[in-house]
Amino acid sequence: MCGVVGFVGVRPGVRVIFEGLQRLEYRGYDSAGIATISGGKIHAVKSDGKLLRLEPLLHELPESSFIGMGHTRWATHGAPTTQNAHPHLLGNLALIHNGIIENYRELKQELIADGHVFSSETDSEVVLHLLSRELKTTPEIKGALLKIIPRLRGAYGLGIMWGGEPEALYLVKEGSPAVIGVGDGENYFASDALSLLPLTKSVIFLNDGEIARLTKSSVDICDFSGKLLNRPPSILSWTAASAEKQGYRHYMLKEIHEQPAVLANIIGRLVNPLTGAIDTKQMGIDDLDLAKIRSIVYVACGTAYYSAMISKYSVEQFIGVPVSVELASEFRYRDPYLDPSTLVIAVTQSGETADTLACIKHAVARGCQTFAICNVQHSSIPRATKATLYMEAGPEVGVASTKAFTSMVLCHYLFGLGIGQKKRQIPADVYEKAIQALKQLPSAADRAISTAGLVEDVSAKYYESGNFIFMGRGPSFMVALEGALKLKEISYIHAEGYAGGELKHGPIALVDKYMPIVAIAPLDSHYEKMISNVEEVRAREGLLIGVGDLHDERFKNLCQDYIACPQISDAALQTIVSVISLQFLSYYIAVKRGTDVDQPRNLAKSVTVE
Ligand code: M6R
Repeated sequence: MCGVVGFVGVRPGVRVIFEGLQRLEYRGYDSAGIATISGGKIHAVKSDGKLLRLEPLLHELPESSFIGMGHTRWATHGAPTTQNAHPHLLGNLALIHNGIIENYRELKQELIADGHVFSSETDSEVVLHLLSRELKTTPEIKGALLKIIPRLRGAYGLGIMWGGEPEALYLVKEGSPAVIGVGDGENYFASDALSLLPLTKSVIFLNDGEIARLTKSSVDICDFSGKLLNRPPSILSWTAASAEKQGYRHYMLKEIHEQPAVLANIIGRLVNPLTGAIDTKQMGIDDLDLAKIRSIVYVACGTAYYSAMISKYSVEQFIGVPVSVELASEFRYRDPYLDPSTLVIAVTQSGETADTLACIKHAVARGCQTFAICNVQHSSIPRATKATLYMEAGPEVGVASTKAFTSMVLCHYLFGLGIGQKKRQIPADVYEKAIQALKQLPSAADRAISTAGLVEDVSAKYYESGNFIFMGRGPSFMVALEGALKLKEISYIHAEGYAGGELKHGPIALVDKYMPIVAIAPLDSHYEKMISNVEEVRAREGLLIGVGDLHDERFKNLCQDYIACPQISDAALQTIVSVISLQFLSYYIAVKRGTDVDQPRNLAKSVTVE
C-alpha cells in the first residue's frame, strides 16, 4: 500500500524523489520521508501527515544528494507518526518497505535479546536490524541480503541504501510490487510505474524473489540464490500527461469526465465497427481453452467486485455457463472447490490487490485456467494469469474508482460476447441487440456527464445527511452498492446499498422523513417491481431521490428529487450510464463537506497487503 521511490544519477535528486512521491501519494498518505547519501553519510527527513508537511523539510537535505529514496506510508504496524515513518535508519544504513513482515514479532524478540534497540513500532524495522547485524560479518549488501532473506516471512518491496556503498541503491521484491526505471545516466525505482512516467518509459518489473542493484549507469538483477538474470526493459504505453489533472479540480472529477471517451476507445478497439465482430485475439480469449470451461468464478475486491457481479447479467447469458462472483479476501481462505474446468477471472484496476493475486495463485495451483481483466499493464496479476484483457482506461489516480468501474463492466460484457461469438452460441438477434446497445453507450455516457450541474444542485440539498440508502433491482442493485461505496469512501457518510426487494426484510425500519433514499429505476424488466419498492418507501415518508428516464413522469412524481439519466436498451450496460449520476452525487457531496476527495482518509489506491 505504501509508495516507494529511489533515484541515482548525476543531478541533485531530492526534488526528483519528492515529485516521484507526489505521483505515488495515492498509495498511502499518513506519513512520509526521504533519505539521501552525501559525503558517504545518510541524511534523512521525515514527517507525519501528507507530503505537504514533508516539503518544508527538504532543504535540510544536502544539495549534493545524487542518490536517495523516499517513502509515503499507509500504516499497518504502528501509528502514523514521524517516528514510524520510513526511511528507517541505523548507523549508515537506510531502509524503506512496502508490505508486511509477518514474523516480525519473533525476529524483533531475537534482535532485542541480541542487544538491538528499536526506534519505531513498525514491522519493517526488523529487516534493517537483521541487515545491519549481517553486515558485520558479510560486509556487502547483496551477500548480506541473501543471508537474511530466508528469515523473512510476508510481502516486501524493500529499498536499501548504505553509506558503505554510496553509489548504489538496492531493491528487493517478494509479494509487493517493484519496478525499475531505466534512464539516461540515471536510474530509478518505484512501487508503481505511474510514478516513473515523466522520467522514463523504459521499465523493468521485478519478479518475486529478485534483487536489483542500481547505480547511475547500471542495473544488475539477481534471484534469491544470487544468480544473475538478464531482464530487458519493456516500454510503458501511458503518457505523463494522462496522469495529470488537466485543469480539473480533482482527479476524480477528471476521471468521471473521461468515461465516454474511455468507453468509446474500448469498443473501438475490440469491436469491428462494420461487422460487429469481437476481436477475441486482442481480448486474450484466444489464449483460453474454451472447450474446457464448465464454470466461471470471478474474484475481486471493492468496486471491482461490484463490477463482476454485473457480469452475471451478461456473461452468464452469453456463454451459458454458471458464473459465480467471490470476494477475493473471503474466497482464498475457505479452501474453495476448484478444478481444471473452472475459469478463474481476476478483476482489478491496479493488478496488485494482494487478496485477488492470492486467489489467482491458488487457482493456478489447482490447475484452473486463469484470466485477468485489468487496467495497469505489466502489473502482478496479469503476470500471474494465463491471459489478460487490458481495459486501457488510462491511469486512474483518484482513490475512488470511477472510470475503472465502468470500463470493467464494459469489458465483462465484451468478454461474454466474445466467447459466445467464438463458440457460435449466441442467437443472431441477441448478438445484434447487444451490438446496437454498445453503439448507444458512449453517447449515453456523454449525456449522463452533462447532468453534472443538476446532480450538483441535488447534492446541495442532502450533503448534511448522516445516512443514505441506495436501492436498485437486477443489475441496478450493483449500481446501488457502488453508489453507496462511493459516498462512504469520499464523503464519510454512512450509506448502504440494498436490492429493492430486500428492503422490506429489515432495512425499511430505517426509513423515516429524514432518510435520503436514492432509487435507481431504469426502464428495464425490473422496473415495475422497483416502482412498488419506491411506493413502499414513499408510504413511510422517505426522502426519495430518483435516478431514471428523463420522460418517466410516473417515477419522477414519486420522488422529492429526480436525476434524469439517459437510457439504453441493455440492462447490464445501463449500469454504466446510471452509475455516472451517482459518481457525481458522491463527488459533489464530498466537495461540499470539504473532504479530501482524491485521497480520502484511511484509504489507499492499491491494496497490496491482505
Ligand atoms: O485495484 P483493484 O481494482 O484490485 O482494487 C480493488 C478495490 O480496492 C477498489 O476497487 C476500491 O474498492 C476502490 N477504491 C473503490 O472506489
